Amino acid sequence: MTVMNSRVASMYCLKCNSDLAIGDYFFGCPHCLAKGENASVSLRYAGKAAVNGAQKGLLRYSEFLPYEQFPTLGEGDTPLVSVPRLAAELGLQNVGIKNEFQNPTGSHKDRMNPFIVARALQTGRTTVAAASSGNEGVSLAVYAAAAGLACKIVSTPAVTPIWKASILAAGADLVIMETPQARWDYLRAKVETEGWYPATNMIAPPVGSSCYGIQGYKTISYEIYEECKDNLPDFIFVPVARGDLLWGIYEGFADLRKLGNIAKLPRLVAVEPLPRLEKVLAGEDYRTHYEGDTPLTASIGGGTVTYQSKLALEKTDGFAVSIPQDEAVQNVRRLAKYGFYLELSSALILGGLIKSVKEKKLAPEANVLLIATSHGFKNNPELFI
Ligand SMILES: Cc1ncc(COP(=O)(O)O)c(C=O)c1O
Ligand SMILES: [Zn+2]
Repeated sequence: MTVMNSRVASMYCLKCNSDLAIGDYFFGCPHCLAKGENASVSLRYAGKAAVNGAQKGLLRYSEFLPYEQFPTLGEGDTPLVSVPRLAAELGLQNVGIKNEFQNPTGSHKDRMNPFIVARALQTGRTTVAAASSGNEGVSLAVYAAAAGLACKIVSTPAVTPIWKASILAAGADLVIMETPQARWDYLRAKVETEGWYPATNMIAPPVGSSCYGIQGYKTISYEIYEECKDNLPDFIFVPVARGDLLWGIYEGFADLRKLGNIAKLPRLVAVEPLPRLEKVLAGEDYRTHYEGDTPLTASIGGGTVTYQSKLALEKTDGFAVSIPQDEAVQNVRRLAKYGFYLELSSALILGGLIKSVKEKKLAPEANVLLIATSHGFKNNPELFI
């Protein structure tokens, strides 16, 4: 039987800070939703938690996570590699790359799905589902299979044969809807009528994915801390769509500060293929819909922002940088020459770093970390042949 970590004390809204009973808030905070101010919720923990040094991967940190037991496929413990040549070329003290593409399905999403599946198991669901155009679909399909749950991935025509193959191979059903909105509507209807457990957002303006899942991303910050200790990065560059990863990384560092392990948080930098968060940080409403199709970087595409993304940047004194998708191919090539072959969406972190250096947003002695979220084996090979 799957049991929740007894340290989970309550839930709260990121925006209005209301205390909420432990449960599922598929549309985010109900109070904010009623006002049209869609916002995610998160978990509050009580009591003491400690790292379990005898364990590997995410299990090391299970006391900090919503479920201490969850289906694991060896996710986490990803390498953090220094790239001195790149640091020298950009005049920085250090550039590190955290290789999330070494997770079981080739992306960071494998840190999130163990807890979504655990939540579905605990609440007696038999089917998990996601609206996804790639990485989340593959990862959820695989973790659902490992846990013996059925899985439905609702996608758009943008899903490539590479992703399709791995979703279907893991035994999930794939449903194709014409637009992202149609995909959310379909998922929502199935959640209501058939009891599917949703991993992702289903409304517009969107909220983040399952808050149980996002907790898994805290482990990235814990691993960075264990490896860097007093030499934490000043800036962490993260490719961003709806900001699940960004918020999870923020929460992990916030935990470390609360424990007294670190005095200040690394500044988070969101890299996006069109100015969305950039505009929201400059004062636009976070619920604005931005135009612009970015098929090359579909994994971080879409015209929306979430409240959690904005808040993670504000709380870390971070910023957002937008890089046109056309630069992704050259970013992939350059990173591959240092030994890191990334998915196009993920490689945009390099463009974000170069632009931030040019615009003098980083001090010359800055210590920088890039989160490489996904493997280049998912790229359309034609772009590089
Ligand atoms: C390759 C890649 N990078 C980054 C992200 C970050 O997404 P989010 O900001 O929604 O957590 C995603 C999500 O789909 C992704 O596929
Ligand atoms: Zn609220």
